[in-house]
Amino acid sequence: MNWKINKAEKPLKGEIIVPPDKSISHRAVMFGSIAKGDLKVSNFLFGDDCLRTLDSFRAMGIEITREGSGLYIKGGGLKGLKAPSGNLYLGNSGTTMRVLSGILAGQSFTTILTGDESLSKRPMKRIIDPLTQMGALIEPMEGGDHAPLKITGIKKPLKAINYNSPVPSAQVKSCVLAAGLYAEGKTSITEPFQSRDHTERMLECFGADIKRDTLTTEINGLKELKARDVEVPGDISSAAFFFVAGTIVESSDIILRRVGLNRTRIGILNVLERMGANIEVTELHGKLEPIGDVAVRYSPLKGTVIEEKEMPFLIDEIPVLIVAACMAKGETVIKGIKELKVKESDRVKTMTVNLRKMGCELEEEGNNSLVIKGGYKKFKHAELDSFGDHRIAMSMAIAALVSDGECAINSVDCVETSYPNFYSDLQKLRS
Ligand code: S3P
Repeated sequence: MNWKINKAEKPLKGEIIVPPDKSISHRAVMFGSIAKGDLKVSNFLFGDDCLRTLDSFRAMGIEITREGSGLYIKGGGLKGLKAPSGNLYLGNSGTTMRVLSGILAGQSFTTILTGDESLSKRPMKRIIDPLTQMGALIEPMEGGDHAPLKITGIKKPLKAINYNSPVPSAQVKSCVLAAGLYAEGKTSITEPFQSRDHTERMLECFGADIKRDTLTTEINGLKELKARDVEVPGDISSAAFFFVAGTIVESSDIILRRVGLNRTRIGILNVLERMGANIEVTELHGKLEPIGDVAVRYSPLKGTVIEEKEMPFLIDEIPVLIVAACMAKGETVIKGIKELKVKESDRVKTMTVNLRKMGCELEEEGNNSLVIKGGYKKFKHAELDSFGDHRIAMSMAIAALVSDGECAINSVDCVETSYPNFYSDLQKLRS
């Protein structure tokens, strides 16, 4: 499917409820399935990635039923999973492959994890290394560093390790903590910069023996988790497209409802505010995670510097922030861009190719920074590509709003990954 998106002829107005958080939806199914007892997950994201997680646990014998916008899960405990009858196909979902590997590393049965073309190119050494140190038998079946992965069942517990992760990655951290549940003793992971902490929060809530400070998290293994209901907040990474749209389309005034405001995810709000955005947050009462309503009004922006340590707090929002930076007055420098190159697409390359077609100037500096020369009032309309990456498709749709005509965006089915209703939500704000 392709989109044709016309420049915005009038301001964006109104409000939307952004879709449920992808990271938390994955974790609710994964940790809910291996917790003991029944739980309800309210506001689950029925997008492609999370459905791959759901199907995987169903294939391993967990009873999961859909009810309206939520799920009921009959958690089977740490040893409640059964060998699936075939390979587990994980589509485009890096979170499923990396975090699930931690759980599977501690099972007594063997599994094979496969993915689509993009997932089969993404680096897996980052989880293979710590899991192997823990005594897991995990190997890329076609060599190299990539899926398909074979995880051979083991008959004894994993070994606890103290792991220094070379990458600030919540997927790696969550994988090691998940494996730590199946290890004898205390497993710890230390990150170079703090990443999102949804796993730690959920494990704490499920009664795990877990301790943490900013960079190190420690878990004591072989202890059952207790099932607890989970309420999934709105996904700030999906709201981000509209934070930027509301800021750059003249005279806009919109509200995004029930957005997850976890401190380790709100980098986008901090950076946009630094750039001069007009954003007002009203905090609401959230249980597991803080939530709030976010009002966004048009405001001219100025360039900024995004430091490497900020990156994990806004990693998925960088594509749409690049669009904002092109509109901002002056230069924006984004440091620590290496991780962006190993996402669903090489996001430095895919954003650069698209935005250059629209007349923007952006250039890599060294191997870890991106420099954007902003100041555009209108982008040139162009034919753009998602490169099969949901966040590129949606970022370019936002860029199209401030173009001088109509943009075509090719291959946009990938938005099903995280935001199936993106197009209709955008239309709602435009009407
Ligand atoms: C995620 C962590 C991030 C993010 C991804 C979801 C998660 O990846 O980019 O979309 O749910 O833990 P990394 O951990 O690789 O940075």
